[in-house]
Amino acid sequence: MSLPVDHETVVPTSGAQWWRQAVVYQIYPRSFADSNADGIGDFRGIVSRIDYLSSLGIDAVWLNPFYPSELADGGYDVIDYRDVDPRIGTLADFDALVAALHAHDIKVLIDIVPNHTSNLHRWFVEAVDAGRGSAARERYIFREGTGPDGAEPPTDWRSLFGGRAWTRVPDGQWYLHTFAREQPDLNWSNPEVHEDFLTTLRFWADRGVDGFRVDAAHMLAKDMSEPLPTQAELDVLPRDGSHPTLDRDEVQDIYAQWRTVFNAYDPPRTAVAEAAVHSSRVPRYASPATLGQSFFFDLLLCDYDAPTYRRIVDDCLSVAAESGSSVTWVLDNHDTIRHASRYGTPYPGANPDGTPIRKHGGDWLLAGGDPTMIDAARGLRRACAATMLLLALPGSAYLYQGEELGLQEVSEIPDAARQDPSFFRNRAIEVGRDGCRVPLPWTRTGTSYGFGDGGAHLPQPLWFGHYSVEAQDADAGSTLALYRNALALRRELQGGEALEWVETGRDDVLHFRRPGGWQVIANFGTEPYPLPAGEVLLGSGPVGDDLPSETAVWLRV
Ligand code: GLC
Ligand code: CA
Repeated sequence: MSLPVDHETVVPTSGAQWWRQAVVYQIYPRSFADSNADGIGDFRGIVSRIDYLSSLGIDAVWLNPFYPSELADGGYDVIDYRDVDPRIGTLADFDALVAALHAHDIKVLIDIVPNHTSNLHRWFVEAVDAGRGSAARERYIFREGTGPDGAEPPTDWRSLFGGRAWTRVPDGQWYLHTFAREQPDLNWSNPEVHEDFLTTLRFWADRGVDGFRVDAAHMLAKDMSEPLPTQAELDVLPRDGSHPTLDRDEVQDIYAQWRTVFNAYDPPRTAVAEAAVHSSRVPRYASPATLGQSFFFDLLLCDYDAPTYRRIVDDCLSVAAESGSSVTWVLDNHDTIRHASRYGTPYPGANPDGTPIRKHGGDWLLAGGDPTMIDAARGLRRACAATMLLLALPGSAYLYQGEELGLQEVSEIPDAARQDPSFFRNRAIEVGRDGCRVPLPWTRTGTSYGFGDGGAHLPQPLWFGHYSVEAQDADAGSTLALYRNALALRRELQGGEALEWVETGRDDVLHFRRPGGWQVIANFGTEPYPLPAGEVLLGSGPVGDDLPSETAVWLRV
């Protein structure tokens, strides 16, 4: 696809359209910076690093859940949607954080988790106590079991973290949990659930939050009419909205309601859907009448391969254009093996839908995660090249804390220190997501490498100091310098949301033009590629007359 190059369109960085080409930096609050030496990151810690955030040149931060939680799933088990976990801070600390970010021209997105609550949420506690048939149970999905005495679960459904998707309460009924048993699914056929989330959205929007990242956005609407299907039937996700529990058309009615809340603010609050759906379905979530934007995980899931990247870029741009939205590009997040490690391990191969047949990098972790068994230097080289390509694409870019340091996945976490439920529930299949959630290294040495003064809630490896902010801050050749330079240049160069491919005569080299003379060449291959005439603005690694293997460059021509 070659969209016409639009030199005229000025890109808004403020006002209602600020999100279209924003760079959003994801903060996992428990692992960013710890202000009170309890080993857990907190809001005051983030405020203490505000100059660092500002120095990156980002437009917004997205905060992973910070609500009161028993941490059965890293905070995605929410006990109270309108409060802050005391280990992370208070509502006053939240307000101070928002004020500090806004004072630095950084917008704030928060995570909203509507598919399930924590089992300690007052609604669920009430539901268990109130017994079968009660109004309190109608806020969740309770069913009678099967078999003698109903001792077998209602269906054979599996939790996404492994094991059964149903758990029995003392009076014999079962409740549905798509994720861990501590995360009971809400019943979105109940108007009370709708009302409560509208209240939550207003609560945070009134406090100055600029937007919301909507967790598991495709799961809320469920057809629970009998007879319930089997797991084998659920395994197929049709593209017409007819799946019993995923991506049903009526989930958009919920987001249309949310949109009226968003649009009551000036500028309207934004939202981005985390929805694992076929790309043909994405425009429903990314419509201005619903959430407005949706993640595209295609680059995060694919191999480091030029033709694949090119196909994905074209597909995503045209899908986003269908609803008038922009693409959200992403290579790393809190659920993924860091791309600097992933790209140093062999790709496991893809399913017909383009997703890897097993988690990319997962084989290495399962085999023990021996750091000598991956090519970390190559992983980082490819990661930097891929990031430079991503940052030059039209649309918004999501970065995950620590990727700007070139952090590798931490593979050497002892089993006893692991926290992720997918490790405990799915043992033989995956090691879980703790390795990308280890607290950040700020200094070369010292207690928890400057994360705080009292250790770190997930153990940091000895090599962490080498990747610290301190070690990279003044080094013009560091990964951190590359990210800062790229983000500063991107601000200068960013124009209309157009992209035009330039043929290179090589399958392993991609070249595109953006409006205003910005050109990008990425060499995915092993042979150098002669650069055309033009001013080299930035390279993901050293660049001469030729573009070396696994390197990307921005040019002005
Ligand atoms: C999303 C989150 C993930 C969480 C899950 C359940 O996929 O990104 O971290 O475990 O939802 O809330
Ligand atoms: Ca703390």
